[in-house]
Amino acid sequence: MKAVIYRGVGEVALETVPEPALQQPTDVIVRITSSAICGTDLHFIRGTFPGVKEGRILGHEAVGIVEEIGKSVRNFRKGDRVVIPSTVGCGVCGYCRSGYQSQCDVANPNGPHAGTVFFGGPDQAGGLDGLQAEYARVPFAGANLVKLPEEISDDQGILMSDILPTSYMAAVMAEIKPSDTVAIYGCGPVGLFAIVCAQHLGAGRVFAIDNAVSRLEMARVHGAEIINFDCENPTEILKELTRGSGPDRTIDAVGVDAATATKGPAADAEAAKKFKKELKEIALEGVPNDKAFQPGGAPSQALKWAIESVAKGGTVSVIGVYSAPVQGFPIEKVMEKNLTLKAGNCNHRRYMPEMIELVRSGVVRPEQFLTRKEPMRSAIDAYRHFAEHERGWIKVKLEPASHKRKAA
Ligand SMILES: NC(=O)c1ccc[n+]([C@@H]2O[C@H](COP(=O)([O-])OP(=O)(O)OC[C@H]3O[C@@H](n4cnc5c(N)ncnc54)[C@H](O)[C@@H]3O)[C@@H](O)[C@H]2O)c1
Ligand SMILES: [Zn+2]
Ligand SMILES: [Zn+2]
Repeated sequence: MKAVIYRGVGEVALETVPEPALQQPTDVIVRITSSAICGTDLHFIRGTFPGVKEGRILGHEAVGIVEEIGKSVRNFRKGDRVVIPSTVGCGVCGYCRSGYQSQCDVANPNGPHAGTVFFGGPDQAGGLDGLQAEYARVPFAGANLVKLPEEISDDQGILMSDILPTSYMAAVMAEIKPSDTVAIYGCGPVGLFAIVCAQHLGAGRVFAIDNAVSRLEMARVHGAEIINFDCENPTEILKELTRGSGPDRTIDAVGVDAATATKGPAADAEAAKKFKKELKEIALEGVPNDKAFQPGGAPSQALKWAIESVAKGGTVSVIGVYSAPVQGFPIEKVMEKNLTLKAGNCNHRRYMPEMIELVRSGVVRPEQFLTRKEPMRSAIDAYRHFAEHERGWIKVKLEPASHKRKAA
């Protein structure tokens, strides 16, 4: 089958690889009908999230059809249409049973403290092959897969695999209450959906910060008050627009590939030097030569702005991914301002039933953010357009060619 393969920092390739087979009685093989590219995949390729093995199939977002079922899986049958949650839990440990699937004690073969298991990531994250492929093996499938109702299309379902539950959890972690003022750093798919989720939770005003103009335009279409950090200093303008207090809640939807301002009042040459050093400490396997896959260059910038700009007594929600310690973390501001800081990998499976209802009822229309649908054969080009934040490349769905499984 064809799949998107990680070939080292800066290198991703479409290759022919063996089809997956059942390994455990709790496994299911899914024929993938839709996959997608995520900002997390970019961290691996940019070298800012090391540890992915060469040859690993990438991707952790998919919708598909159940193809083959292990004998311990009792709630699915061949032909069922399912969405695959990006993270994997066992379904029965204490963490899974309380909705903390990302902290499952069982799913990670490296042990209960090794970290969240997700598809297409480093060995430390369970070493599972990813979902940018024609077929995938889903472990603990009975506890993870979610059946999609007929009225939910693939275009909607693919955004429920990771992005919608993630953005929803970001808004929940931000403790958004009716009429709160919220600032969201990052207008990639996660940040854009966080705007919708913040509004759903009753936010009074939502600010969205980025420097990618077409992404900011999309944020404005969805009702956010936009700030371009290459034109204005986000912490100063947020104060100005909130009569000096700052927003009640801030969300970091950027993560370790944050950029800093290169022009305008937020540009700071001294800070830029420190960020350079910080990047070196994080990108342990080096950074790519390839222009399309350059790291953001200022790993802790979004996090720092989120902490700096939030109101006293406010909440900072960190949904952007960090892979290594960030030196110079402003703990003194967290302390001095009595902030609440919440962070984590999404517990996708926990939020899925709620997300299905939001989409089925038309409250959220996730397909509005799906700006590109590309055949799997164009995956590498699609990675480049997405990585460079090109206009029209906000969320990219990949469609595998449909072919009969050799193993079946
Ligand atoms: N915690 C989880 O479970 C989870 C799940 C999915 C994705 N994520 C993470 O969420 C983050 C966003 O994902 P995405 O798919 O939207 O990524 P993306 O790369 O498409 O978007 C990131 C956006 O942030 C902008 N940006 C860069 N520096 C900034 C700064 N200093 N301030 C404001 N904006 C800045 C970029 O221009 C870009 O538009 C990534 O770190 C991804 O790994 C986390
Ligand atoms: Zn993702
Ligand atoms: Zn578990």
